[in-house]
Amino acid sequence: MSLARYTGRKSLEAIAASADDHGQGLTKSLGPFSLVGLGIGCIIGAGIFVLTGKAAANYAGPAIALSFILSGVACAFVGLCYAELAAMIPASGSAYTYAYATVGEIFAWVIGWDLILEYGMGAATVAVGWSGYFVSLLGSFGVHVPAQWAAATGEAVQLADGRSATAILNLPAVAVVLVLTGLLMAGTKESTRINNIMVAFKLFVVGVVIVVGAFFAKGANWTPFIPQNTGTFGAFGWSGILRGSSVVFFAYIGFDAVSTAAQEAHRPQRDMPIGILGSLTICTILYVAMALVMTGMVPYQKLGVADPVAVAIDATGITWLSVLVKFAALAGLTTVIFVLLFGQARILFSIAQDRLLPALFSTVHPRFRTPFASQALIGVVVALIAAAFPIGLLGEMVSIGTLFAFLLVCLAVIHLRRSQPRANRPFRTPGAPWVPVLGIAFSLLLMCGLPLATWVRLVVWLAIGLVIYFGYGHRHSVVVPQAAAE
Ligand code: ALA
Repeated sequence: MSLARYTGRKSLEAIAASADDHGQGLTKSLGPFSLVGLGIGCIIGAGIFVLTGKAAANYAGPAIALSFILSGVACAFVGLCYAELAAMIPASGSAYTYAYATVGEIFAWVIGWDLILEYGMGAATVAVGWSGYFVSLLGSFGVHVPAQWAAATGEAVQLADGRSATAILNLPAVAVVLVLTGLLMAGTKESTRINNIMVAFKLFVVGVVIVVGAFFAKGANWTPFIPQNTGTFGAFGWSGILRGSSVVFFAYIGFDAVSTAAQEAHRPQRDMPIGILGSLTICTILYVAMALVMTGMVPYQKLGVADPVAVAIDATGITWLSVLVKFAALAGLTTVIFVLLFGQARILFSIAQDRLLPALFSTVHPRFRTPFASQALIGVVVALIAAAFPIGLLGEMVSIGTLFAFLLVCLAVIHLRRSQPRANRPFRTPGAPWVPVLGIAFSLLLMCGLPLATWVRLVVWLAIGLVIYFGYGHRHSVVVPQAAAE
């Protein structure tokens, strides 16, 4: 049995032809503005609204701003690689499709299966964060959600009367996933419009926080800017900046999701790089500014809470802004879930078009022009995961899955430059091969910062994927028989 049976490749021409298939295809409704909106919609979320505070309090202090710069630089290397491939191969499968064109089917399947971790579990992770903010906001209006209905199944919680109980499921997380799934089933154009409005609101409030924060920041809170290391690796000092960087990496996940909308972009060759790099640049600037003002408004030790931005604003005494921040966080988290659910359906769409998954996932609704059934199924599965698992476990799985995909995307750029030097590249990663090599190095570095248990879960997940591939995908593939015949 030769390896060639599993490494059939799709030609760039065949990918371009199927992406241009107007008859059966998805609607081409997205311009550069919507694509940047899609990117920001997916990037600014639980990372800045929840994790920054914990990372500042536990690892980096005010120097968390430097952690954001470090992660941002890492993502910039990878973002440039994504931009090259998304403009060159504008298909909705993102890294899955890039791998199919370069290293072949089995690797494409592995990366596609890995992207399910990023998008599906990512949506579930942020839904759990959404639930936390939702419960907190209702609480500030005097409405109390029973704790056993707002936490992961089996988790120990404390009830309002002080008694302990075991959580049943996370109901608000389930609800938000199902509502957004309904919107996505109804149509991309309508739902991206709602997404753009929410993104604008989130950006507006982030902008207000930065401006207000700049006035209220106290120099004393930034001194020392890099707190002294406590003697433990990762607890402040330079190693703390590195550790903080691995934690806040989650905040950047999402710029790559723009590439899953390539098939629905008017002019992907021009608009994909704008969408990916534009959203990444805007978010990096905002994150560094947010990190600076948050640690300037209150001593960083006070930020290790579930709603650090609101806590920082509370210190200014402007109470209306604190409530506004909670609303913006909710809107922000909503758009992240929205884009991740959207991206998940597009990736499964591409995999099913190649028959590695059943046709259900590539069927477009005749009237709504959306992957209706697939989106519904994704919604149910993500809702079940969000109902039952805690945010920490999910978040680490998402980060390792994403970093693994980043690494493979950088490899694909290097490989394609060698194997197809003359292919049309509307956008070229500058400084190749060094920029992709740095992207790989940084992804590995951040992966090494994650615990061993997460690595084990990744291996188990990939093993399950391989069982599905050999049991179903490989037998139904349309690409490998063609490649073998040639
Ligand atoms: N970057 C996204 C967030 O922070 C996933 O929620």
